[in-house]
Amino acid sequence: MTKAEDFQPMLLQSLEPRPKRMTFNRLGEGKDGGPPEPASMGSAVYTFDSTFVPRDAHVEALANLRSFIAELSGAQQAYLLLNGTTSGNLGMVLATVRPGQKIIIPRNAHKSVLGGVVLSGAAPVFIQPEISAELNLVFTIKPEQIRQALLDNPDATAVLLTNPTYQGFCLDLAETERVVHQSGKLLLIDEAHGPHFRFHPDLPLSAMRAGADIAVQSTHKILGPFAQTSVLLVNSQRVDDIRLRMAMTMITPSKISHLLAGSLEAAMTQIAEDGEAILQRVIDMTENARDRINQIPGVRAIGREVIGKSESVVDVDLTKLVIDVAGLNLSGYRAARVLHDDYGVSAEMAGATTVTMVVTLGNDQKDLDRCVTGVEQLSRRQRSARAQSSPLLHILALQTPPMGRQVLVPRDAFFARKARVPVPESTGKISGESVIPYPPGIPVLVPGEEITPEIVEYLTSVRRTGIEIHGCEDRSISTLRIVDEREFLHNFGSGWG
Ligand SMILES: Cc1ncc(COP(=O)(O)O)c(C=O)c1O
Repeated sequence: MTKAEDFQPMLLQSLEPRPKRMTFNRLGEGKDGGPPEPASMGSAVYTFDSTFVPRDAHVEALANLRSFIAELSGAQQAYLLLNGTTSGNLGMVLATVRPGQKIIIPRNAHKSVLGGVVLSGAAPVFIQPEISAELNLVFTIKPEQIRQALLDNPDATAVLLTNPTYQGFCLDLAETERVVHQSGKLLLIDEAHGPHFRFHPDLPLSAMRAGADIAVQSTHKILGPFAQTSVLLVNSQRVDDIRLRMAMTMITPSKISHLLAGSLEAAMTQIAEDGEAILQRVIDMTENARDRINQIPGVRAIGREVIGKSESVVDVDLTKLVIDVAGLNLSGYRAARVLHDDYGVSAEMAGATTVTMVVTLGNDQKDLDRCVTGVEQLSRRQRSARAQSSPLLHILALQTPPMGRQVLVPRDAFFARKARVPVPESTGKISGESVIPYPPGIPVLVPGEEITPEIVEYLTSVRRTGIEIHGCEDRSISTLRIVDEREFLHNFGSGWG
């Protein structure tokens, strides 16, 4: 452990000005629109973090902010989340699904959804999202899949979906709402990437407008407050209010940071006052960049043409810039690295053959110009180099194995004692961890599932490609953490099989 006198304040030092990353344009900008430099952070920031605000005033201000956000978002209630959508997803599942009850979720749900499943003791029923072979990207879920999952699991309590995806693909929320509520289930939406939808008519349908019971939004990802500030919105007679409040108390700090909540207040005030105009500017800049990128050889910026290519995508978020670099024989990861290191353009995320840029309220035309120029240079440079196929593409050719049987609910697997075994010896055991290859970002295993021979074979092939594996302890995927058989026999009866 680092001794106090050796401590280096790395957080502040790491705030070197980076050209692409947004800054909130009301709380003060650094040079050239970049984040504030460490020195400029000064003491001003700390004055916002006052602990001396009278308690009553503090409570009143927070209640005031909550009703403002609720009203603005078309919700009955809003909870402030200062630990991101992660905490909201935990609270949302904890508040709505009891131990052993079923919750229908996409297989590629954010890890915090699985966290909520562990906390609540719920039994997940997974739906596989559609993969676009053309774009090497994960799309979303079709209403038909939800209808089928509800037919197969009439005892399910809730359906929790991610909308939009990281890349801005949107499922048919209106039809989904009809299907889910007709069966008397709760509709919960992880709307981490859609806090802006409500504020512009050309953006996709928001969860609250569609009639979802609860939605969680990462306000910080798009609308400009400090990182980690999110909101949970409720609009439902079906949700047990008291249980939700108790769940939220469990996942919320007792002392709310003035600095974070203040930045949320400023962001929401800004969007309330000028939302449509600000978002129009962002959409126009992004559409213009998309058109220019589409003139560049070997690359393609994905836009509205993707709508309707599959029933799982009925709309797209026009503020996302998803660039397909497959025509350059380059992986998205490599392209993102070159764009960042050589052209000062930071992508939000990379995939097998795509790079996703999030254009926020803090970005300006210069940022978008830099992005287009970077992609131009990348294209020129890559076309003059000898084309080399990316090994990442081979992983996509691999057939994902069917899910293993769920022997334990994730909560029991989480608490069980674990053992580590080499992958080839794991057949027939119960996984004690998630294993998520990127791409495509869909778990092959989640805790509590049986490890089948097909999964072992798949993991062995995946390992050879050297792609990134998330969720598990040994990311080289030579070993797996499994539920200790002796403990299982002791706690759960005569075994599995
Ligand atoms: C779909 C989805 N849900 C939830 C989260 C967690 O968001 P936060 O960083 O606000 O905790 C993310 C993070 O990127 C996400 O992509």
